[in-house]
Amino acid sequence: MITLGIETSCDETSVALLSDQGIIANKVYSQLEHAAYGGVVPEVASRAHLEKIDRLAAGVLDEASLPIDRIDLIAVTDSPGLAGALLIGISFALGLHVRHSIPVCGINHLEGHICAILLEYPDIGFPFLAIVASGGHTAIYRVDDIGTYACLGQTVDDAAGEAFDKAGKMLGFPYPAGRTIEEEAQRAGSAAGPSFPVARMPGAPGNFSFSGLKTALKYYLNGKDADAVRAERPAICRAFQEAVVTSIVNNCADAAEKTGIGRLALCGGVACNGRLREALRQRLGSQVYFPRPSLCTDNGAMIACAGVNRFNRAMLRAPRMDPGGTL
Ligand SMILES: Nc1ncnc2c1ncn2[C@@H]1O[C@H](COP(=O)(O)OP(=O)(O)OP(=O)(O)O)[C@@H](O)[C@H]1O
Ligand SMILES: [Mg+2]
Repeated sequence: MITLGIETSCDETSVALLSDQGIIANKVYSQLEHAAYGGVVPEVASRAHLEKIDRLAAGVLDEASLPIDRIDLIAVTDSPGLAGALLIGISFALGLHVRHSIPVCGINHLEGHICAILLEYPDIGFPFLAIVASGGHTAIYRVDDIGTYACLGQTVDDAAGEAFDKAGKMLGFPYPAGRTIEEEAQRAGSAAGPSFPVARMPGAPGNFSFSGLKTALKYYLNGKDADAVRAERPAICRAFQEAVVTSIVNNCADAAEKTGIGRLALCGGVACNGRLREALRQRLGSQVYFPRPSLCTDNGAMIACAGVNRFNRAMLRAPRMDPGGTL
């Protein structure tokens, strides 16, 4: 079965082709247009998707040397995301459906992030825990099967990736800043530096909060001159990254203990972070799985994977990804 996956929920335009044997082609255009604004501008995102999507689709078919009538299913992100950006991908998918009579399956973007793990570890086995840590979401799910997700906790304010990006802005890094903060933190070595608070949520210990951490960084930087901040930036990045990592590791360890499920998939853009991968493995052991970085950030292959799995199970209703209670 050949599935075309389409992703346009935010600032990556991506189209992929997936067969039963794995990814045939996966093309991603990361919109650099937003860097000048320090964050994603919805209208700019929609226009950029519109300009790129047909060329990306033609590109994957070309790379795979497949005619369009070999596609059995189109999977397209239909929520959550920027309305105008989603509309470009959905309209493109429906256009192909009308012209070529290929069935279309709408996919929840977070389900896509979780399904990225199946591209790397198809035999991971259910149930497993999945932490989705991305630019707009941070949540832990118990995954009993494709389409059956219980949200065990989620952020009550900023997402982990958003916290990295906003910290980066305060430190003078371009958007998005997660990777730059990781690279800068590696330069700190064992130099002395600040430490920042890790929020624990009384009454809802599975939840996350990153806004206090952001405020702590803001107060730490207040009154310091730019040269002093630049000199101290590696140690500040190390401390900031450590606070985010500790929060995620603590909640994943709690979830593993309370559910008795040891297998954990780390998904979403923040899953690219090497320190987070290392710390989770140190705390939870070898049953921590993560996709390669290009499958952690937004991509069409993860959407195709979710689509084909839902199609094979005849599950065409969108899953509930909102909280079913906290730990
Ligand atoms: N090495 C890294 N360390 C920390 N954060 C990272 C790293 N690489 C990428 N990120 C962060 O990942 C985020 C992008 O991930 P992703 O593409 O999954 O988010 P999104 O699609 O914008 O949000 P969502 O999936 O919630 O809709 C950005 O916030 C970015 O800073
Ligand atoms: Mg995403």
